[in-house]
Amino acid sequence: IALPSLRLLYLLDELNNPLITLKSIGHQWYWSYEYSDFNNVEFDSYMTQFNNNNNFRLLDVDNRIVLPMNNQIRILVTATDVIHSWTIPALGVKIDANPGRLNQTSFFINRPGIFFGQCSEICGANHSFMPIVIESILI
Ligand code: CUA
Repeated sequence: IALPSLRLLYLLDELNNPLITLKSIGHQWYWSYEYSDFNNVEFDSYMTQFNNNNNFRLLDVDNRIVLPMNNQIRILVTATDVIHSWTIPALGVKIDANPGRLNQTSFFINRPGIFFGQCSEICGANHSFMPIVIESILI
C-alpha cells in the first residue's frame, strides 16, 4: 500500500510558486474572500439584487474578486455553515467548501476578462443566489 501511496503523494505535491493566495469562504448564502497576503484584506460578495443593462441577472455580485492574469494563483476554500462549492467553469475549477476544512487548489488565468461561476453544492434555500465573479486584470 505504501509504494503506490507515496507515488500519488509525490505527484500531488505543489510544484508551482503562486503569486498570491485567495481564501474563499462559503456562507448561507454568499461568499466572502480574504487576500491573506495583504494585511488580511477581506470582503463579502453578495449577488446584486437589482438588474439593469450593466450586469448579468443572477450572476453578478456587488464586490468582485480581482486577480492578476498570467500568474499562478492559489485558492483556499472553506465554509462556515454547510457545504458549498466554489466553481468557475471557464477556469476549470470546482472545489467543495466544507465547514471545518480547508481545501486547496491553484489555477492560472491566461487572459483578461470577467469570469462567472455559481455555488455548485445544494446548500439551502438561496443556493441559486450566491454567484462568483472574478475580474482578471493585467498587472
Ligand atoms: Cu452555497 Cu449552494
